[in-house]
Amino acid sequence: MYSDKVMDHFANPRNVGEIPDANGVAQVGNAKCGDIMKMYLKVEDNIIKDIKFKTFGCAGAISTSSIATEMIKGKTLEEAEKLTNKAVIEALDGLPDEKIHCSVLAEQAIKAAIDDYRKKNNQ
Ligand code: FES
Ligand code: FES
Repeated sequence: MYSDKVMDHFANPRNVGEIPDANGVAQVGNAKCGDIMKMYLKVEDNIIKDIKFKTFGCAGAISTSSIATEMIKGKTLEEAEKLTNKAVIEALDGLPDEKIHCSVLAEQAIKAAIDDYRKKNNQ
């Protein structure tokens, strides 16, 4: 059912936790299933220097968030905002159809955390 990459990121998720001095934070919920994700960004000079996430969610939510954080760490805010759940799913070698909605959580959480950073910095 799950690709090797999904299993790897689920069993050994990257960038899990909190950033105490994060300057962009957001929590989003998945309307479909009620799963929740919190995303922490540390932005410096328009670059995502550090990113961590916490989720009360399923294997799909954990694996997509894990790989999404890897994909945008070190990128500019503009590059990070372009990350789509489709690109995340491709990077994981696919997700089962009934798990596609899980991948939206990571994309939404990243965008909301960037918005939060921009608001706090009057951008
Ligand atoms: Fe989210 Fe399954 S419905 S964990
Ligand atoms: Fe809800 Fe996966 S089942 S995010």
